Amino acid sequence: MNLRTDPPTIPFIDLAAQRRRLGSAVDAAVTRVLNHCQFILGPEVRAFEAELAAFCGAKHVVTCASGTDALVLALRARDIGPGDAVLCPSFTFCATAEVAALVGATPVFVDVDAATFNIDANGIAAAVATAKSLGLTPKAVIPVDLFGLPADHAAVAAAAKAENLFVLDDAAQAFGASYHGRQLGTFGHATATSFFPAKPLGCYGDGGAVMTDDAEMADVMRSLRMHGHGSDKYDNIRIGLASRLDTIQAAILSEKLKIFPDEIAARNEVARRYADGLRDVATVPTVPDGCTSVWAQYTLRLPAGRRDTFAAKLKAEGIPTAIYYPIPLHRQQAYKHYPVGNGGVAVSERLAAEVVSLPMHAYLDAPTQDRIIDAARRALKA
Ligand SMILES: Cc1ncc(COP(=O)(O)O)c(C=O)c1O
Repeated sequence: MNLRTDPPTIPFIDLAAQRRRLGSAVDAAVTRVLNHCQFILGPEVRAFEAELAAFCGAKHVVTCASGTDALVLALRARDIGPGDAVLCPSFTFCATAEVAALVGATPVFVDVDAATFNIDANGIAAAVATAKSLGLTPKAVIPVDLFGLPADHAAVAAAAKAENLFVLDDAAQAFGASYHGRQLGTFGHATATSFFPAKPLGCYGDGGAVMTDDAEMADVMRSLRMHGHGSDKYDNIRIGLASRLDTIQAAILSEKLKIFPDEIAARNEVARRYADGLRDVATVPTVPDGCTSVWAQYTLRLPAGRRDTFAAKLKAEGIPTAIYYPIPLHRQQAYKHYPVGNGGVAVSERLAAEVVSLPMHAYLDAPTQDRIIDAARRALKA
């Protein structure tokens, strides 16, 4: 009799393992909200905003309905709109450029650095020149902390200062990471993050937040998230949105924030084991000196043309992979009519053809990870 069974499929992200760990603490937090019934901007929202500010060191935190809305709120608070250019990388999730278009501005694409996948600050001046040549007013740059790794914030700040740009950090994938001893949330003029469930700090639905040290900007964003209210909610002083973080989600996030430092440490241990197991067969991610990552993704680079076979071989062994991102934004149907900065986007093109991400989460145990590493090594050596 053949007793061999296929090994179980490994989850790409294991939210159920985290749910088991949180256990009744989350149930109790949700029940508290169900009992007091303040579902919109209830006390848990204020409490979570204070906890988030204390965690990252920002003076003000304004939560909202998604990471996308967080970026929109910040751009709207700075009156960025039609005729303005907003610089952003092409190798990122679409929301980074989408928000520029949503406020009526024009995204202008900048290339990324091949080692970090983050915006190449050397491309900022050229993209500003491109924007001006098109009659646009360059107003902002959105660096992205891709896959959990901080962008080069010192270089971005210097380039942005030279061009008088507002810096809005898109830390949707990287909240919890640090750059030269400071947590993300304190770089640029404002930082946006996302609590989408798959993010390192995710909720059980949609959610987002903006962090800033600018009290006036925080006040405007609080107004904008609630239909542009003034002194009370039926006094409308600007056109706004309905974009609040649900009280239930805030209650859940407060529980998740308690275990977040421990989860970040676990993610770093997973990343260390991947690097040790794979650095001789693939290009593993680089973490520059002075940075820490929260490893939203663990992304390898393979020689062009090898990725599909690699992914198929792993899939056959019950190991999922993902490609973030297969098409850079400047080639997407919705974005291809927007300008690319004079420096071009050659690295974004190359990365889109070479990257592949492996399962990554805080609950990936060593035997399961060894299965992934062994399969990846076999696939790459074949
Ligand atoms: C880089 C980046 N920016 C913005 C967003 C938007 O966040 P959300 O999905 O919460 O709107 C995401 C999330 O998917 C993201 O990865």
